[in-house]
Amino acid sequence: MIPVARPCFGLEEEAAVLDVLRSGWVAQGPTTEVFEREFSAAIGVPHAVAVSSCTTALHLAMVAAGVGSKDEVILPSFTFPATANAVLYQGATPVLVDIDPATLNLSVDRVAAAISRQTKAIIAVHLFGFPCEIAKLRELCDAHGLYLIEDAACAVGTVIEGRPAGSFGDLACFSLHARKIVTCGEGGLLTTPRDNFAELLRSLRSHGTDRAADTRHAEGLAPAPAHHVRVGYNYRLSDVHSAIAREQLRKLTAFVAERREIAHEYDEAFRDLEGLRRPPRRDGVVHSYQSYVVVLERGTPIEPGPFRDGLARSGVSTRIGTYAVHEEPYWRDRADSLDLPQSAEAAERSVALPMFNGLTATDRGRVIEAVRSLWKGSPELTL
Ligand SMILES: Cc1ncc(COP(=O)(O)O)c(C=O)c1O
Repeated sequence: MIPVARPCFGLEEEAAVLDVLRSGWVAQGPTTEVFEREFSAAIGVPHAVAVSSCTTALHLAMVAAGVGSKDEVILPSFTFPATANAVLYQGATPVLVDIDPATLNLSVDRVAAAISRQTKAIIAVHLFGFPCEIAKLRELCDAHGLYLIEDAACAVGTVIEGRPAGSFGDLACFSLHARKIVTCGEGGLLTTPRDNFAELLRSLRSHGTDRAADTRHAEGLAPAPAHHVRVGYNYRLSDVHSAIAREQLRKLTAFVAERREIAHEYDEAFRDLEGLRRPPRRDGVVHSYQSYVVVLERGTPIEPGPFRDGLARSGVSTRIGTYAVHEEPYWRDRADSLDLPQSAEAAERSVALPMFNGLTATDRGRVIEAVRSLWKGSPELTL
């Protein structure tokens, strides 16, 4: 079976893990500090703070932005539910808006229409590695005094007019989960241009202590006791994870180049399949293709369910693109019903095809042949 995603680890990651294990320091420590510096340089933002996942990064972004129970936060419905849950953790109200079907990202017009006196922040999701209209959202936030938080879970390696995704927001949140381009199994990071946010985030991720890092031991002195000055969490990333993520980050340029090559091959092969909407492209944008997601338009020769089953029978794994949060049972049972047709349609009709570093030419060919055969009613299977 060709998996939909597969992490791409080499001897470098193995050696880096061994080094950390042998060093005797496996909790968050010096390797994580180095990783943070390297990650902030890659994004072009002064600070990066490593945490245990993008979900915990989004939670801390809410805390840092001061989002509380009287506040609203605007985000797209078509996203992984973690984006909305982070708002709920703070007792605030997620205001779900619809997406632009051409990009599957949040619609700027819908965001503008949803701004109220209670709005505190906008979470701009760069879904599947294709950037949302982040410059326009930045302008909107500046005009209304709102925080811009980028959910860049899928967007390491995404570039917009020469600027990396994650460098536009007051805060940006990244994922190191196994399905992401740079991975260490589970993990995440926040980036921010603001010194005060970085200091606060370092305290919040580590039980609310009043010091980011104790340097006394490095000077041969006894460590200073930490004091707990706020309610904090244990959202730290271990040095074992950071060691793997560092090696992965070094490969980012090559990883994105390979993914773009695979996407190009798929795009060309599916060009004549009417009703199979390929991922968006835009001049001036580097799509990192964390996922390669197609949408089966209504009236196409085959519906999404049988399409995915047919691919599975041909040995090709798929997943849905992602969820329409407003249609998930938790949401439906608790909130007024919302009419967000584009999000609902995308959740129902989007399919992620295999996309990962190391996807061989043979397996790319098998994916292409299986998709084309199902679309054309199978005659090519006999060719
Ligand atoms: C858009 C988006 N936001 C947040 C997350 C949560 O990331 P993590 O699994 O690192 O918590 C995901 C995970 O897939 C995601 O796709």
